[in-house]
Amino acid sequence: MICHGMTGHNTLYPIVPRLAGQHKGYLELQLKQFKDRSRGDQNGEIYMWPVAQSLTAAEMKELASYFAAQKPVMQSSGIKHAGIKEGKVIFNQGVAAAQIPACMECHGSDGQGAGAFPRLAGQRYGYIVQQLTYFHNGTRVNSLMNQIAKNITVAQMKDVAAYLSSL
Ligand code: HEC
Repeated sequence: MICHGMTGHNTLYPIVPRLAGQHKGYLELQLKQFKDRSRGDQNGEIYMWPVAQSLTAAEMKELASYFAAQKPVMQSSGIKHAGIKEGKVIFNQGVAAAQIPACMECHGSDGQGAGAFPRLAGQRYGYIVQQLTYFHNGTRVNSLMNQIAKNITVAQMKDVAAYLSSL
């Protein structure tokens, strides 16, 4: 709560994700993966393993429902990063030459996500770049995203993060 903000809007820390309006199924899955330690990216391990350890299945469900019910903030950071235009092209079309599919195929035309596909619209810039780095180097394990991020460059990660955090 302290890190993500009382209503999941989180304005304090750039590497902590916004959870307000995130999908219930996705949130519940992440909490389970933090508890059973199958989500082992460095920040997840440091910050979320200890938190999730004592959560019961019912509590995970409640927390996921709580955050999912909050209204997501759009553009709340107010910071514009360079690369928004380029990032939008990657999000909508992918990068064919590097076999990167369009992100919108799973994350929705406006980054709104659905079910197990997380909402990315309005997410923190630093958090998105960090997660893409984890998927790229395999420290965060997800078969879909590991494949998708395999060929992504740091510049492309930053562009797509600039676009998504601007929504
Ligand atoms: C084939 C479906 C699919 C496509 C296409 C896809 N993603 Fe994902 N993405 C997922 C799934 C599923 C997850 C959740 C992974 C998990 O449960 O750990 C995810 C997670 C993420 C996350 C982590 C979100 C969070 O809250 O931690 C980011 C960031 C992300 N994707 C960015 C992208 C970008 C950028 C693209 C386009 C280059 C993309 N994704 C394309 C399916 C997809």
